[in-house]
Amino acid sequence: MAQTVYLNGKFLPITEAMVPVLDRGFIFGDGVYEVIPVYSRHPFRLQEHLRRLRNSLDGIRLDNPYADSEWMRLILELVALGDSQDQSVYLHITRGVAPRDHAFPKDTPPTVFMMSNPLVVASQALVESGVAAVSAVDNRWDRCDIKAIALLPNVLLRQIAVDHGAVETVLFRDGILTEGAASNIFAVEKGVLLAPPKDNHLLPGITYDLVLELAAAHDIPVEIGKIEQARIYAANELWLTSSTKEVLAITTLDGRAISNGQPGPLFRAMYGWYQDYKNTVMRVAA
Ligand code: PDD
Repeated sequence: MAQTVYLNGKFLPITEAMVPVLDRGFIFGDGVYEVIPVYSRHPFRLQEHLRRLRNSLDGIRLDNPYADSEWMRLILELVALGDSQDQSVYLHITRGVAPRDHAFPKDTPPTVFMMSNPLVVASQALVESGVAAVSAVDNRWDRCDIKAIALLPNVLLRQIAVDHGAVETVLFRDGILTEGAASNIFAVEKGVLLAPPKDNHLLPGITYDLVLELAAAHDIPVEIGKIEQARIYAANELWLTSSTKEVLAITTLDGRAISNGQPGPLFRAMYGWYQDYKNTVMRVAA
């Protein structure tokens, strides 16, 4: 049976979900999205994801089509229709269907699409071995805090990693760490967890916040600030975080080993705290 998705007020089989070619998402990439992990059918930090969605919508001057309570109802209904206990909800809003013109159309309803797929987290082998990453100049715009569907720069940047047999591309703007092509990046230096500040150059990750909370709960010193590229190569540990990848150690960058090329002790601790949190909090609370 075809997967059930949500489109503009209806739940329907994905094979019947159609969007007109003049949709501004298709023509201009004019829209925003969210990815929400779901554990044991509980969407994780739904309020925070809906707050980030509101910020993204404000950032592109598009009215929020639904109140948070309505989003919650629709998301829970979609999750209930999925086969898996652990899922990943994708939601996507565009400025709707209108004759092609850069200017905003008037009185045009937005297009609202949602689907939920089984959540596939990183394999235990990747957690144990760590992953390879490459670096690139961050050539995106300066509103990377908006979760825009126009992901061409991220797609091209991620493909550099794929072409090198790596998992992620770590981005530097004017020699300063921003984030990954689809993840946030942390480093460890002499026992201190380093993270770039949540500003307009990166997406404020929900997993980023959780990692900082877990660090604080376990008395790990944290330093939030600008991190130069040279410091990243010399770091004791390098991690990436996202809703779908959780926390992974980056063990080589541009073919150069980070420290001894193995996931470090703080990564192992953080991974354990993350799994504990998942099993004790995420699976039981909305
Ligand atoms: N991406 N930075 C970028 C550019 C991202 O695309 C993502 C997530 C993150 C991490 O955010 P969070 O912890 O809230 O997942 C940071 C999602 C998973 C995606 O596009 O599929």
